[in-house]
Amino acid sequence: EADLESKLPLKGKKILITAGPTYEAIDPVRFIGNHSSGKMGFDIANEAASLGASVILVSGPTHFRPKNSAVEVVDVVSAQEMYDACHLYFDTVDVAIAAAAVADYRPKVVALQKIKKVSSEFSIELEKTKDILSSLGSIKKEQFLIGFALETENEIENAKLKIQKKNLDLIVLNSLQDEGAGFKKATNKVTFIDKDFKIEPMELKSKESVATDILNKVVAHFL
Ligand code: CTP
Ligand code: CA
Repeated sequence: EADLESKLPLKGKKILITAGPTYEAIDPVRFIGNHSSGKMGFDIANEAASLGASVILVSGPTHFRPKNSAVEVVDVVSAQEMYDACHLYFDTVDVAIAAAAVADYRPKVVALQKIKKVSSEFSIELEKTKDILSSLGSIKKEQFLIGFALETENEIENAKLKIQKKNLDLIVLNSLQDEGAGFKKATNKVTFIDKDFKIEPMELKSKESVATDILNKVVAHFL
C-alpha cells in the first residue's frame, strides 16, 4: 500500500493541462499562429499520468499524441475554444497547468471568403483574446494553479507580476537567454517562482526533465 503511494503519488488526482499553440482564423484558409510545438505540455501530461494522475490535456494544433491512456486529449484550435474547454473541466480538477502558447490577439472579423490580393497594402484589425489562466485564477477554489511566463526583459519582476495578476501558486519562467531553450527546442532553462516569491533557478535540461521538476512541485503540494 505504502509502496503504491510512493510510486503513484498523484493517484486519485485530476490535472488539467493546456498545450500547444492556438490558431486564430483570418479567413477560411489562413490563420495567425506561433511556433509552439506542444512538446512541453505533452511531456507534463505524460509525466503526470505516469505518477498516477488522470489528465485532461486541452491542446491546440500539434502532431503529438499522449503515451498514456490516462491522458484524455481535448483538441481545440482557437484561444476561445481552449478557454471554453478549460472552463468546462476546471471545477472537477485538483491542479491546472497552463503550458499553452495562447495567441494574445485575434482578427476582429474573420472573412467568410478567401481574401483576394486586390490592394497594394492590407492590414488586419486585431482584438485581445481572453486570458484563460487569469480567468481560472479568478474562479479557483482549492485548485493548485501553475502558469508559465515567457519574458525577454525584467524576467523575474514580470513573472512576479504575472503570479499576482493571475492568482497563481507557481510560475515557470522560461529563459530565452539561453542558447538551448525555447520553442522548437528539446531543452528548457526555467526558474520556478512560487506565490511567496521564492525563486529557484533550474539547470538547462530536457523538457522531459523540466516536466519531472514541475510534477515534483505538484506532488510536494499534496504532501
Ligand atoms: N495564457 C492564457 N491565456 C492567454 C494568454 C496566456 O492562459 N490568452 C497563459 C499561458 O499559457 C501562460 C501564461 O498565461 O501559462 C503566461 O503567458 P505569457 O504569454 O507569458 O503572458 P501574457 O499574460 O500573455 O502576457 P504577455 O504576453 O504580454 O507577456
Ligand atoms: Ca502572451
